[in-house]
Amino acid sequence: MTNKEIKIAYQECNSLDQLDSQDRKLADAAIAAIATSYAPYSNFNVGAAVQLEDGEIIQGSNQENAAYPSGICAERTALFYAGASRPDKSVVKIAIAAGQNGVLCESPVTPCGACRQVMAQYQLKGGQPIEILLIGTAKIWKFAKVEDLLPFTFDSI
Ligand code: THU
Repeated sequence: MTNKEIKIAYQECNSLDQLDSQDRKLADAAIAAIATSYAPYSNFNVGAAVQLEDGEIIQGSNQENAAYPSGICAERTALFYAGASRPDKSVVKIAIAAGQNGVLCESPVTPCGACRQVMAQYQLKGGQPIEILLIGTAKIWKFAKVEDLLPFTFDSI
């Protein structure tokens, strides 16, 4: 066996003010979407904002259900709505933010495995990399493509 290694490159900054105007707009849209979260069970409110190739921004938030698996994360709400309402537009960027009791989380919120897989699918569909912005008050992380969050992505069928 040969030893192999994967390196993941990402960018970090520590304030929204350090983002360029396009990223800032998307980050603000993700933060604003937190207000539409329906999370009576976890009280963890997540907002996501998806940017399409023509610049349009589509927002989503987590929507919980008494039957837990029936709920859905903010990222998938936004991506599925983008896919359903703008089927011919590629997704080029997604920003994610979260808060608890009205306070934005300090650490960037990192998407669950199912949301990473869904991001990978929309990246495949759109034929161009989806940039990912993970927003926290202390740190903001930016990834250039979905594989940076989901190496060895399943896309073989
Ligand atoms: N959640 C998201 O919406 N996105 C994430 O990236 C992580 C988790 C939601 C799912 C659930 O409603 C709540 O946060 C707690 O897990």
